[in-house]
Amino acid sequence: MSNNGLNIKITAPIVMVAILLVTLLVNSGCYNSKTGEVKVGGSISFELPVFPETGSHAVQIFSEMQYSPSYRSQEVPRLLPPEGSVPVTGAEVKILEVEALKALSMPDHDGSQAAKIYSVNCQVCHGQSLRGDGPITTLSSARGDGSKAYSGAAPVNLISERVNDLSDGEIFGYITWGGRPGLAAAARGKDSTSIMPQFGYLLNEEQRWQLVQYIRDQNK
Ligand code: HEC
Repeated sequence: MSNNGLNIKITAPIVMVAILLVTLLVNSGCYNSKTGEVKVGGSISFELPVFPETGSHAVQIFSEMQYSPSYRSQEVPRLLPPEGSVPVTGAEVKILEVEALKALSMPDHDGSQAAKIYSVNCQVCHGQSLRGDGPITTLSSARGDGSKAYSGAAPVNLISERVNDLSDGEIFGYITWGGRPGLAAAARGKDSTSIMPQFGYLLNEEQRWQLVQYIRDQNK
């Protein structure tokens, strides 16, 4: 307990000095509120977050929300399981070939969480309507020059013949590996270059099957 008191005594002046320093830098004209660029003398420069309308924090794009970075500071250090451990429910067999994916059939699953899993993980790109028009596609760049923040491959319209014509297993495979580019990269043992996360690492098998069913249902 006495340790805590000591910590507060030591950290409070440090925090005050840091606040003073940032205030000084911002007020002394070395801070560009559009780009967040801060220059100190000729040699030091770094970027603070910006939100051009208010001159404060930027909207940070985090491509999937299941594991929000905001929780991190609250978490206790994790004890990772020993390498090679498998869950008690059995390990998932990784399938990387399209033909083998096509042969998969949807297992029995509970679909009650599907809409929620979709809106937390997919809606930001594929949109609430699933038509590939999520907020990421219209977000303005922090540069404030009218350009878009995201200019990569467009999130696929999931209410489309293209997706409706896929088998359940293919949709499952694309969710698992981050779209077609992600699956192709994984099959070559390479890292995915797609903006779409590889949900095989983020959602369990059952959650991914719930999403396949959800996409199917919305296509009806
Ligand atoms: C960060 C943006 C992003 C997120 C989040 C995202 N996707 Fe995607 N998705 C894409 C992009 C972009 C593509 C097109 C593939 C490419 O070019 O990388 C794609 C492709 C796909 C495809 C393949 C469709 C086809 O016919 O090629 C499926 C299925 C899909 N996404 C489903 C989902 C689901 C379900 C989720 C949520 C678990 C999700 N995506 C989350 C961006 C995203």
